[in-house]
Amino acid sequence: MKKSSETPQEKKESRRNFLSNLAMLTGLVLSYGALTIKGLLFIIPPKSQVKRRKIYAGRLDEYSLGTIQKFFDLEGKEILVKRSNEGIKAFSSVCPHLGCRVHWQPENKTFFCPCHGGEFDADGAPIAGPPKDGNTPLFEVPVHVDESSGIVYLQVKDTSGGLS
Ligand code: FES
Repeated sequence: MKKSSETPQEKKESRRNFLSNLAMLTGLVLSYGALTIKGLLFIIPPKSQVKRRKIYAGRLDEYSLGTIQKFFDLEGKEILVKRSNEGIKAFSSVCPHLGCRVHWQPENKTFFCPCHGGEFDADGAPIAGPPKDGNTPLFEVPVHVDESSGIVYLQVKDTSGGLS
């Protein structure tokens, strides 16, 4: 058996160095681990847990072509629902530029925002003003039409916090 040539003082110092290095290594692993997790969450955001609720928006046969019907989501924000040859589409009336209310102009078949002259075509695409410069379309609200009953539903964000 090999006899250690270290003095008790050296052994004590060696053990102290070992424990000190172990503590430093543990700290580094924890801090870089936390940094890595934060970085990954930034790059890959967690899936959105937005709950949606269907709200009644009339019957399909109540919509005439080219007209708009107005509804309100659970936060009281206006939704403009339009029927065209392509089907039903719904948009938030909140302008994506600075949040003014857009209005349907049947004579032009466009949505118009009076605040800065923003204009959108019938599909919500920006065609004039700051929304066109920023290429920001109207926010579209998902629509579901029940085939058998012809009832139109808007799928709005559920802010009720209650049971579905
Ligand atoms: Fe609508 Fe500026 S808020 S164009």
